[in-house]
Amino acid sequence: MGRFASTVEFYARYREPYPPKFFERVAEQIWLCGDETLLDIGCVPGLLAIGFAPFVGSCTGLDPESAMIEAAKAAAAEAGVGLSLIHGRIEEFPITQTDDVITIGRALHWLERHATLTVMERILASDSGRILICRASSTETPENAWVKPYKEVCRSWASGPPEKHYRIGGKQWFADSCFRALGETSVTEQRQITVSDLIGRALSRSNTSPEILGEGRTRFEAEIAAALEPFVQKNGVLVEHIVARASIFGRLPCGDQHCSDS
Ligand SMILES: C[S@@+](CC[C@H](N)C(=O)[O-])C[C@H]1O[C@@H](n2cnc3c(N)ncnc32)[C@H](O)[C@@H]1O
Repeated sequence: MGRFASTVEFYARYREPYPPKFFERVAEQIWLCGDETLLDIGCVPGLLAIGFAPFVGSCTGLDPESAMIEAAKAAAAEAGVGLSLIHGRIEEFPITQTDDVITIGRALHWLERHATLTVMERILASDSGRILICRASSTETPENAWVKPYKEVCRSWASGPPEKHYRIGGKQWFADSCFRALGETSVTEQRQITVSDLIGRALSRSNTSPEILGEGRTRFEAEIAAALEPFVQKNGVLVEHIVARASIFGRLPCGDQHCSDS
């Protein structure tokens, strides 16, 4: 069982969503015309692939977690979106296709950098190809004072295999590769959320998954509820500001290539 297997039932429903406006804004910024091919690496239940589907010609999702692939199939069917799904790791991706757009959402740190860059150098369409490093998170503002205590409880329970991978930003991750940063887009959305949504969100994370928490899950959920309780409004909800960001990368111009020696 992979580390995301026990998060499947919580991921699509509770993880910070990418707002619809985010997909529109990015599509506009990178001039999508509607006939592009898109590959979503670490696609989980298809959050990015399904969101971008109306703006491109075809979408493929790739993930090594078989339960996630099944969840992506169900989510795509529910959204009425055609999504091709491949079970596997990007580092071993069969290089038989070229993609105009590659998306990686909240998954960069799981990927073996050198091997992934080698694959992307081969499959990204030349010149116009774009890589989008995407993330969506809840920001801390004076109105969102619950974020800090919530994160503190999650952090105090977080556990799992040591993360040997790269917890670094996109620019550093792509340094000395044949890709360069081209821009950034961000969209903020205010929404309402409940305590049980935030418990579900914590369970969608690999380091506080039901598998990791085991018998401690009930206590974990009670601690989250207690930490959030002072911030719950009279109507039973909390206010949340979601910021969704895409960092856009493309190939270095010809003659200025620092491609890996693969
Ligand atoms: C945090 S989730 C991704 C979330 C989703 N893309 C989003 O933006 O919400 C990370 C995903 O990356 C996948 N993953 C981990 N290692 C991978 C690899 N080597 N190649 C492709 N996907 C990988 C995991 O199975 C998991 O589904």
